[in-house]
Amino acid sequence: MTTTSPSKGIFDSANIEARDGVVELLAKAYWMEMETVMSYIAASVNLDGVRAQEIKESLAEDVTEELGHAQRFADRIKELYGVVPGSEEFSAEQSFLQPPEEQTDIVHVIRGVIKAETGAIEHYTRIVEETEGVDPVTQDMVIDILHDEQGHRRLFEGFLREYEVEGIEGGRVLDGGER
Ligand SMILES: [Fe+2]
Ligand SMILES: [Fe+2]
Repeated sequence: MTTTSPSKGIFDSANIEARDGVVELLAKAYWMEMETVMSYIAASVNLDGVRAQEIKESLAEDVTEELGHAQRFADRIKELYGVVPGSEEFSAEQSFLQPPEEQTDIVHVIRGVIKAETGAIEHYTRIVEETEGVDPVTQDMVIDILHDEQGHRRLFEGFLREYEVEGIEGGRVLDGGER
């Protein structure tokens, strides 16, 4: 008679390869969060003008949230017997979130934030898909973080919409004034 030991899921010795794959995805997510922290700190300080205040405050709040995400990704890497990478492994990807030429160019920053959040949403959706039936604990955590990023993107889409609508109305006012 043979006895089979109960499955330990992602911690099962038969699942080492799957675990390494998850750790790799988590490391990429960790770097995305860390770069977002850098970009959002810079933008939350750099922007100038009365109208920038709300965007700056929103970004300053996000910094704390994104840092929290980075820490959660790091913790999960450790739990899966991975090693949180050192700073020398970092390579920047957010070319679109570099400071604008004019620090009053709020739309540049809003567009950059939407792009960063979209990138995170895409990567985290991939993690949710790849951990399906493999690692429900990582999946659960990433769904939670994905929810935050969807909220961030929606908020900044709203900011962008406001600027777009005002742009159009500004044009109409100008046309009327010229007659
Ligand atoms: Fe995040
Ligand atoms: Fe975010």
